[in-house]
Amino acid sequence: MSENVVVARNLTKVYGDHRAVDSIDFTVTRGEIFGLLGPNGAGKSTTMRMIACRTPLTSGELLVESLDVSNAPRRVRAQIGVVPQENNLDPDLNVLDNLLVYARYFRIPRTEALARSHKLLHFTGLTDRVTARVEELSGGMKRRLMIARALLHQPKLLVLDEPTTGLDPQVRQEIWQRLAELQKESGATILISTHYMEEAEKLCERLIVLDKGRILAAGAPQDLVRQSVSRYALEVRDCDNRPLQEALANVQAVSRNGAHLYFAADPEILTPLMKYYEGHRMLIRPSNLEDVFLQLVVHEESANQGAHTV
Ligand SMILES: Nc1ncnc2c1ncn2[C@@H]1O[C@H](COP(=O)(O)OP(=O)(O)OP(=O)(O)O)[C@@H](O)[C@H]1O
Ligand SMILES: [Mg+2]
Repeated sequence: MSENVVVARNLTKVYGDHRAVDSIDFTVTRGEIFGLLGPNGAGKSTTMRMIACRTPLTSGELLVESLDVSNAPRRVRAQIGVVPQENNLDPDLNVLDNLLVYARYFRIPRTEALARSHKLLHFTGLTDRVTARVEELSGGMKRRLMIARALLHQPKLLVLDEPTTGLDPQVRQEIWQRLAELQKESGATILISTHYMEEAEKLCERLIVLDKGRILAAGAPQDLVRQSVSRYALEVRDCDNRPLQEALANVQAVSRNGAHLYFAADPEILTPLMKYYEGHRMLIRPSNLEDVFLQLVVHEESANQGAHTV
């Protein structure tokens, strides 16, 4: 069994004259949680849909479990569990029947399907909703049912497109905890896209940051933080129309959504700036993945448009 679960080389998807995914290379190795990060329209879902054989590649190469997705889509689909960005549960069926009907696609015998379904409903905390109709479920419960469904055929690779977007922080934490358990206990490989940097930082062993179909950065979250931004950040809220202080030595300045962020290797370099912002809400904290993301995407934007704000 190859150690590489997904191999993408020059992977490209073009819609009309728009390059949604623009010649990207990455490898997902067995047993890891690998993240796809990026702003809206970056190409995360398109990449995942190509892996899940839901849309053909325009060019490049894409292997899943050493199988070429272009030549062996059925065999690839049998090996991966997919949670798409939009829920597509059957609203006419109850929770359990959603799983049982899905099990038929994979020709899982009924007694086995029942046993697996109950186990997965327990795992995802839906045991007391077995007979509920889908429309009676909350957003978080629907997402958990989608995850249970994706696990029914015991896939080696789980592809999750923003499994926790729009859910409250507690439910989000629960889902991420379940995924971490799944990876530890069953050795599953998990490919996940998310907008939540904090969670990506905690859960993903490696990740790529995508923007406009291209990879801006790749690596372990802690390495990206170390390499891309200085160690400390001064974050000042509600700066309104105040000018950003851009000319300071050894400080990088970024403005975002009315907040000003300054990065430096040492907190002492940042303290004089606090005087300038007297009366504002602010804090000095260690840099995090969100800062990396911000800087990468801001640099792209300013390179393209001469702007410093995202
Ligand atoms: N079926 C399609 N036809 C035409 N263009 C598409 C199609 N699907 C996606 N695109 C375009 O491809 C680009 C990438 O879209 P994609 O859905 O992969 O982004 P994303 O990173 O998943 O964004 P989000 O965070 O909003 O989900 C976007 O510019 C989008 O408009
Ligand atoms: Mg998407």
